[in-house]
Amino acid sequence: MHEYDLIADWYAAQRTGHIGVPEVTALAASLPAGAMVLDVGCGTGLPLTRVLLEHGCHVMGVDSSRELLARFQANFPHVPVVCAPIQSCELQAGSFDAAMAWGVLFHLRHEEQEQAIANIARALKPGAAFLFTSGDAHGSSDGAPMNGVPFRYHSYSIAGYRDLLRAHGLTLESTHTDPGGNVCFQSRKTG
Ligand SMILES: C[S@@+](CC[C@H](N)C(=O)[O-])C[C@H]1O[C@@H](n2cnc3c(N)ncnc32)[C@H](O)[C@@H]1O
Repeated sequence: MHEYDLIADWYAAQRTGHIGVPEVTALAASLPAGAMVLDVGCGTGLPLTRVLLEHGCHVMGVDSSRELLARFQANFPHVPVVCAPIQSCELQAGSFDAAMAWGVLFHLRHEEQEQAIANIARALKPGAAFLFTSGDAHGSSDGAPMNGVPFRYHSYSIAGYRDLLRAHGLTLESTHTDPGGNVCFQSRKTG
C-alpha cells in the first residue's frame, strides 16, 4: 500500500505516546541477548523499534512505504531495511528469534494477511515469538481517513487468527486489548 507515502510527515508527527511500548518491552525482555527481530511495517521506528534496539536486539525493518522508511533510516541509519510488502518480500527461512507487526496486518486484505503470516512464520526459528495487532471480528470496513487519505481495514476473528496461525506452525498464546483499542496477539512458532 502507498497511502502511508501520502501522509508520512503527518503520521510521523502524530505517532507519539506509548502505544505498543509495554508489549514490545515485554517481548524484548523475553529474548536472548543479541536476538534477531523482524519488525514488519516498522514505520519510522519510533517508538517501537527503538525499544528493541535499547534492549540490545538486532533488527531488520520491512515496510512498503518508501517515505516512512526514509524517516526510519534517518532515525536508525545502521539498521537494515527492506522496502517491500511483507506478504511477498524475500526473507531467509528460520533466521529470526522474533517478529512483530504492530498496526500492520489490518491494512492487508484477508488473503494477503494469510500470505504475510505464512512468510513471517517461515522466517522464524522454532520457538520464536510473533507479536502482532489487528481486530477481533471477522470483516472489512472503512476507517476514519487519516489526514484526508481513506484507509480500509480487514480483520479475522480471534478464532480465525488462531486457525490461521496454526496452519502455519504458530500457536496463539494470548490476546488482550490495549488502551488504544489494538487487539494484541502473542504467538509462538511451535510447528
Ligand atoms: C499504522 S503504521 C504502524 C507503523 C509502526 N509499526 C508503528 O507502530 O508506528 C502501519 C505501517 O505498516 C506499513 N505497511 C502497510 N502495509 C504493509 C505491507 N503489506 N508490508 C509491509 N508494510 C506495510 C505502512 O507503510 C506503515 O508503516
